[in-house]
Amino acid sequence: MNISITKTTCPKEKPDSSTLGFGKVFTDHMFMMDYSKEKGWYDARIIPFGNLSLHPASTVLHYGSEIFEGLKAYRRADGKVQLFRPMENIRRMNNSAERLCLPQMPEEMMLEALTTLVKSEEAWTPSAPGTSLYLRPYLFGNDESLGVHAVHNATFVIIASPVGSYYKEGINPVKIMIEDEDVRAVRGGTGYAKCGGNYAASNRAGERAAQKGYSQVLWLDGVERKYIEEVGAMNVMFKINGEIITPALTGSILPGITRKSCIEVLKKEGYNVSERLISIDELSKAMADGTLEEAWGCGTAAVVSPIGELCYKDHKYTVNGGNIGALTQHLYDTLTGIQCGKIEDTFGWTYLIK
Ligand code: PLP
Ligand code: COI
Repeated sequence: MNISITKTTCPKEKPDSSTLGFGKVFTDHMFMMDYSKEKGWYDARIIPFGNLSLHPASTVLHYGSEIFEGLKAYRRADGKVQLFRPMENIRRMNNSAERLCLPQMPEEMMLEALTTLVKSEEAWTPSAPGTSLYLRPYLFGNDESLGVHAVHNATFVIIASPVGSYYKEGINPVKIMIEDEDVRAVRGGTGYAKCGGNYAASNRAGERAAQKGYSQVLWLDGVERKYIEEVGAMNVMFKINGEIITPALTGSILPGITRKSCIEVLKKEGYNVSERLISIDELSKAMADGTLEEAWGCGTAAVVSPIGELCYKDHKYTVNGGNIGALTQHLYDTLTGIQCGKIEDTFGWTYLIK
């Protein structure tokens, strides 16, 4: 692929690593590429970071045709930069595109777009513990007409943001509220796709939870509000009476790459992991009788995030005395160790930027 590069004439000052939150600072350049039904993908370019210009009738502004991904570039101790399982993100992006009737992209093309941007923005990859360069590829429908149909024109962008921890709590346990009114997704809908609309639909419950002091909501299934699904921006796992349980991928939750990685780490270490339906009644019982030993969220932005309190119908349950559990800590250390090159990657998950 031919990628043209236009360098910025006014590079920004790099932020102090200790001040990084999540997604507030952006690098000097971004990747862009356009698509039309007639031409296919065209005009791959790295350009100075800046505003987009859209036709007021652009599809994305009216009908929400948008998908995205989230992955990170990590600075290793030897100074080199590596990605974590980028092909998983690329494949999921194409699955999301298929669901939303957006154009798919050859995998090698998306990988080249990602690696070329990471190389261009390499100096923005922080090195302090817990920091990384978050990459946000996104794709949206960009037809200049109001008809409702699969898009004929689309725009693909990748922006990059040096980040620290996703939650202000960092690796400290977060408080999660179980939502029993709004639902995020239903089977047959777009729950398994990473599309902006899923997050827009989540905001009302998220705001209600935030007003009560909770970091995110834990969703129940959209039909019976009976089975646990996932957290707002993470999948969820529980350790109940020794059994490690995570909700099965039934079509309404995002097939998380961190979830998959946790399962693979645990299985390699000889643990059994049950991917199955888990009802709110089963979880409530485990919370009440003390058999819920640990609970944690897992996702690219938050990595592995211990849950210290769960609230359901105004009943508050403290998990593991509000402390991070041993298994949660072990998963956090293992994943971040592999990501930053501190632990040998026996899985072949890391992708070195050369
Ligand atoms: N579920 C939702 C709704 C998410 O937004 C995310 C974050 O990407 C995840 C789960 C975890 O997915 P991953 O581990 O691939 O980042
Ligand atoms: C990620 O973990 O990469 C996500 O995309 C979550 C995001 C919605 C903040």
